[in-house]
Amino acid sequence: MTFTRRNLFALAATASFAATLAGLGLPVHAAMAADDTVKIGMIQPMTGPFASTGVEAVAGAKQYIADHGDTVAGKKIELVVKDDTGSPNETKRIAQELVVNEGADVLMGFGLTPLAFATAPIASQAKVPMVVTAAATSSITEKSPYIVRTSFTLPQASSAMGEWAAANGIKSVVTLVSDYAPGKDAQDWFVKTFEDKGGKVVEQLTVPLKNPDFSPFLQRVADNKPDAVFVFVPAGVGAQFMKQFRERGLGDAGIKLIGTGDVVDDQIVNDMGDVALGVVSAHHYTAALPSDMNQKFVKDFKAANGGMRPNFMAVGAYDGMALVYHALEKTGGDASGEALIEAMKGLSWESPRGPVSIDPDTRDMVQNIYIDRTEKKDGELYNVPIDTVENVKDPAKAAK
Ligand code: PHB
Repeated sequence: MTFTRRNLFALAATASFAATLAGLGLPVHAAMAADDTVKIGMIQPMTGPFASTGVEAVAGAKQYIADHGDTVAGKKIELVVKDDTGSPNETKRIAQELVVNEGADVLMGFGLTPLAFATAPIASQAKVPMVVTAAATSSITEKSPYIVRTSFTLPQASSAMGEWAAANGIKSVVTLVSDYAPGKDAQDWFVKTFEDKGGKVVEQLTVPLKNPDFSPFLQRVADNKPDAVFVFVPAGVGAQFMKQFRERGLGDAGIKLIGTGDVVDDQIVNDMGDVALGVVSAHHYTAALPSDMNQKFVKDFKAANGGMRPNFMAVGAYDGMALVYHALEKTGGDASGEALIEAMKGLSWESPRGPVSIDPDTRDMVQNIYIDRTEKKDGELYNVPIDTVENVKDPAKAAK
């Protein structure tokens, strides 16, 4: 007999539960969250090449608890953080341990697409909500009916960039993306929207995800002499990209840099130097959003984290927590998987990024996409919003 989390709970309700486990030689702990506690198992890369994502996300989740308290609908919220180092096998193993041995009611995190893909079957088997606060390949939410996402999709950001580029005098582009699923989404949706509006993509380049050396690819960009290069690299990697972009002198050669906001994320943009000035990017969050709510969020987050600026990974996790809190309010504290997932569909709230809602059909966020220009503001580099596309659904799913 295999024990899913669900039938463990059903068994727990019977007097024979302990006897059954003991009879099977299983430890009786099955340490399930106490009834008055909702346990959120957050799995993130806290070490390794993508640690910047985990550090921002955990700080974002903690900021939400600091702002809203650790009790909701009579339940105490317990956040447990685990480091998967960015390895899919680890993410899956930890997720399994969290639901089977630690009684997690919700799984949260998933800093990269392969980590979310690896864990989707666990969410389905255990019927536990899996809140994706980072990974952004469109198809992720299709991998389990228990997945809900509070980050974004690459098609959301890339299509906004494609339209903006075509409408703003850019005629020829080379695309340069990391060679894995979100890179393909970014490339496909930029190319489609830019070419639909009359632009021409002259070459499509993919660079390795791990330890990328951008130099040979930047040389190809330079050889093509396009008006602009469109870039997607995951959070954190933009620092290395910008260094090599400067060294190759592409900006000096008059090639504009455009992309999704990942390449100039708020944790690293201020250290990029003048080479980043004038970069135009499309994203669902920038620390420069002027709303009172965002400015308070940025101030409090920096104060709690030694001056680190919140980036979109922090906001994804902040809203991951908001999603769980609002869902618990709706269920009156019922944290069973089915009840929570149903409650999450269609929820809407005000986030530091602006108004958001969960599309009940796709379980993705409907949100504003901002077109940002990197500029100096109060002596620091920020991605300053210059245009807004409101209430954007994931276009990849709308197209199906
Ligand atoms: C992803 O792997 O889905 C991913 C990671 C980091 C990003 C965007 C997408 O900045």
